[in-house]
Parts: sequence; C-alpha cells; structure tokens
Amino acid sequence: MNLADLIDASRDQHLAELSEFLRIPSVSAKSEHKPDIERGARWVADHLRAAGFKHVEIVPTNLHPLVYAESLETPGKPTILFYGHYDVQPAEPLDLWTSPAFDPTVRNGNLFGRGTADDKGQVHIHLKALASLQQVNGKFPINMKVLIEGEEEVGSVSLWDFVQKNKEKLKADALIVSDTSMLGKGVPSITYGLRGLNYYQIELTGPEQLFAKLHEKNFRVSVPGFYDQVAKASKAERKSLNALPWKKKDFEKAVGAPGYFGEKGFTTVERLWIRPTFELNGIWGGYQGEGAKTVIPSRAFAKFSTRLVPNQDPRKIAKLVEKRIRRLLPKTVHCKFEVLSMGKPWVAPYHDPIFKKAQAALEKGFGKKAVFIREGGSIPFVTQMYDTFKVPCVLIGFGLPDENAHAPDEHIALDNYFGGIKAIAHFYADLATL
Ligand code: BES
Ligand code: MN
Ligand code: MN
Repeated sequence: MNLADLIDASRDQHLAELSEFLRIPSVSAKSEHKPDIERGARWVADHLRAAGFKHVEIVPTNLHPLVYAESLETPGKPTILFYGHYDVQPAEPLDLWTSPAFDPTVRNGNLFGRGTADDKGQVHIHLKALASLQQVNGKFPINMKVLIEGEEEVGSVSLWDFVQKNKEKLKADALIVSDTSMLGKGVPSITYGLRGLNYYQIELTGPEQLFAKLHEKNFRVSVPGFYDQVAKASKAERKSLNALPWKKKDFEKAVGAPGYFGEKGFTTVERLWIRPTFELNGIWGGYQGEGAKTVIPSRAFAKFSTRLVPNQDPRKIAKLVEKRIRRLLPKTVHCKFEVLSMGKPWVAPYHDPIFKKAQAALEKGFGKKAVFIREGGSIPFVTQMYDTFKVPCVLIGFGLPDENAHAPDEHIALDNYFGGIKAIAHFYADLATL
C-alpha cells in the first residue's frame, strides 16, 4: 500500500489510539496528577517504540519526566529533532465542558477533550506520520530525534538544564514543532515568531485600584522603560502581516466578547504578535465562600504576566515591573513580589530550504499554500533550542484559534488532524533530499 492510502485506511485506528492518549489526565500543574504524568510519559515511550524507534528513554527531571527517542540509521541524510509536550493544562472549570474533559468525544467533525489541540493531538500527528513511513518503507527516510516533555504548561522549568547537559544528543539540522495554530480554517500556517513570557505573583494588602493604573488611556503599559528595547517591526513586515487572510469576524467570534481594545496605533494582529502586553491572570483575597461573612482580609493576591517581543530582556522587564508596582503601592502596604517564570521571545528568518519543503508538504495535505505568521503565545523550548544551536525551527501548527486551548471544550478539527498526518509524513519523506 502506498503512504497516502495507508494513512486513509487507518483513520479509525488512529483516532482510537489518540483517544487512549487523551484519557490520561496528565496535568502538569497539579501534584495529585503525578501518577498520570508518569503514565503519560510511558504511553509516549511505548508508542515511539511501536512507531519504529529502537532507542527510547524516559528521563527523570526535578519535576516531570521527559521522553527522548532517536533513530540514526540513515547516514548522510539530515537529522531532524521533533519536539512536543504530553502534559496538559488543568481542565477546570469542569462544569463548562459539554462532554467530560478526559473522555474524548467526536461532535460535528471535531474531537473534544483536554489536550486535543494542545498538544497531544498534534504530537500524535507526528507519531502516526512516522509510524506510517516505517510501515511502508521498513525504516525512516531521515535520522530522527524526538523530545516530548511533560512540563511545557508549567514553563519547561527542567528543560534548560537538560538542553545544556545534552547538547550533542539534541544537535540536529532543524527543529520541527507542532504546538501552534493555523491562521484560520483552511489556511495552513508556519509560525516564525513567538512572544516571550514573564509570569509574576504578588501578595499584598492594599487598594485594588493597583491594576487599573498599569495601563495608560491609550492602553500602553504604564511601566516606565517597558518599551525601551522593543524592536520596531519593519514597514514591510507590518504590511505582510496585515495582508494575511485573517478574518476580524472569526476573531470576534472566537473571543466571544462584545468588543475589544488594545494599544493605540496597532492592528489586532500586531497587538497579538509583535507588541508586548501586560495581562492580569487572577486576583483573589478575602472571603469567597457562600453567604455573608464580615472580615477585613489581611492579604490579597494577584497573578499577572507580561508577553515580550524582541529585543526586550526578561530580567530587565521583571525589574521594571516590580519597581512600578512598588511605586504604585501606598507606604502602609507590604508586598511580596515573585517572578514565577521568565522567557525570551523568539523570531527567526525563514529562508532556509526546509521552509520551502514545509510549504510543499502542507500544500499536499491541505491543497493550499501555507502562509508565514507570528503568534502571541510562548514555547520555551523553541527559544532555548534556537539560542543554543541557531538551527532553523519549523513551527507547523494544526490547531485553530477558536479551538479553546487551555479552556473548556478544547477540540481539534478532524480534517486538520488527518490532513496533518498526511502533510507531516510527506514532509519527513521529502526531507531525505534536503
Ligand atoms: N502551545 C502553547 C503555545 C502556543 C499556542 C503558541 C498557540 C502559539 C499559539 C503552549 O502549550 C502554551 O500554552 N504556552 C504558554 C506558556 C508556557 C510557558 C506556560 C502560553 O503561551 O501561555
Ligand atoms: Mn502547547
Ligand atoms: Mn498550552
């Protein structure tokens, strides 16, 4: 059987296997899920072996294990590192799911469940593409290294250490990642930039107006120095990003708010991808239970983050943000300021020949030419890998912006899942002649 026919004939099997993966609640943020994380790592290792990898290891770290596999049996051919994550975000609030988060269900051509789009579904696309190539040819067309981690959703805290200690192991001609989104339905996309992420927490007693003062009237972040290092995007780049087939209507529907706002002087796409922002993620304190309770709380908390763009330095920004917050607080308040994680932005050129091959493969799987986009989200490993080896990083996303990653009713379009397997199988096959 040829590759495309084999992939078509195996659809039900692939879906059933992915569902098994999705039933493991490998939530990295919660210690009660530690056994599920371990189970997730074992599931990945077993299925890498089944796909044809003879060398597979589960590597313990200070937090959650990562899975590494390699197959270096085609001397003279390129070596590709594929990266993904098997951990998922917590499923709460559970009552907002139409079907249970860890009981994958198909509705209207979509597969619903935590991890369908981010990132188990996308990891499985590569597993099945590789297994299909192995089945048709008896071996992989190129040398493959695979790294699937279990801490991405909590900031990849152990990964930097692993990368620094295993440079030889991770060295490759290119990095391939599927952990992003397509620009829209039917628009295959290759991402060449991500924002960096600094995540903070404060504990204080004081007036809640604090956060109202962190933006100016025009929605610029009111932290002195915040924009000093921001690289000005070129006219040409702004023009090409704004000309992408991005649909305002689809975005409004995906966001679900009656209106939205952002930094003055920039389009929505620019605000999301090329401008830094300040976000409030959670704020709590005082009595929150049922009924009334008279108490003056002694503490209040907030979690917030800054998304960063070139050439902002995460350390510098963290200091500026702390300084600004302390400035805004009255002298009568004590503030414990913590930086929970820091991450640099990533933007890279895309003229390496591998990008042409990625475009050709996506055209084969989706019948359309891929566009080059940037994204507002963050993937720590991509920055670490690029900074360490300066190799081309090819981010091919099969999620859609309205698929509710991190939220209730997360799903993946089955067309993109199956089309993804085909495109990725062709991509790996074509890389033999890179
Ligand atoms: N897959 C996402 C990142 C992403 C999603 C990038 C969509 C671009 C488009 C990843 O799993 C993620 O959630 N990253 C976190 C940051 C991380 C350090 C916790 C994020 O961006 O919020
Ligand atoms: Mn992800
Ligand atoms: Mn995520």
